[in-house]
Amino acid sequence: MSEIKRRLATILESPAMNPTEKLQKICTLLDQEIEYFNWTGFYFKNGVKDELILGPYVGAETDHTIIPYGKGICGQVAVSGETFVVPDVHAQDNYLACSLETKAEIVVPIFKDGINVGQIDIDSHTPDPFTPEDREMLEWLCGKVAEII
Ligand code: SME
Repeated sequence: MSEIKRRLATILESPAMNPTEKLQKICTLLDQEIEYFNWTGFYFKNGVKDELILGPYVGAETDHTIIPYGKGICGQVAVSGETFVVPDVHAQDNYLACSLETKAEIVVPIFKDGINVGQIDIDSHTPDPFTPEDREMLEWLCGKVAEII
């Protein structure tokens, strides 16, 4: 297991924190450890409504605290249930700008009991920065997050 996964696992397994505190710590860790992760946050389905609500995050404040299903990269992942890697956000028609500095984005869904209940969203100020290892780590993380929410 990589060092970052070990540290994420320690947070996830901590008996001293509630789930919201764990998600906040996870955002902080990823933001600190991976220099091209410049906005890191979680969105979750709003009950029975087809919209996402912003959860814990680290980075600039965003206008997108509620995102309807289908809108933007996040809303598309809410519908598709598949990881969406965007090397160049300006090449996307269906994109919601969070910060003018953002160049790239990755969104990974969180499935609990087979249902797409949320996602992790990462923005980068670096063009095309996300590696296959980042994707694998984030998909692993979302699997673990599903166990604590
Ligand atoms: N860029 C996202 C919106 C969320 S902000 O990046 C925090 C999107 O297109 O869905």
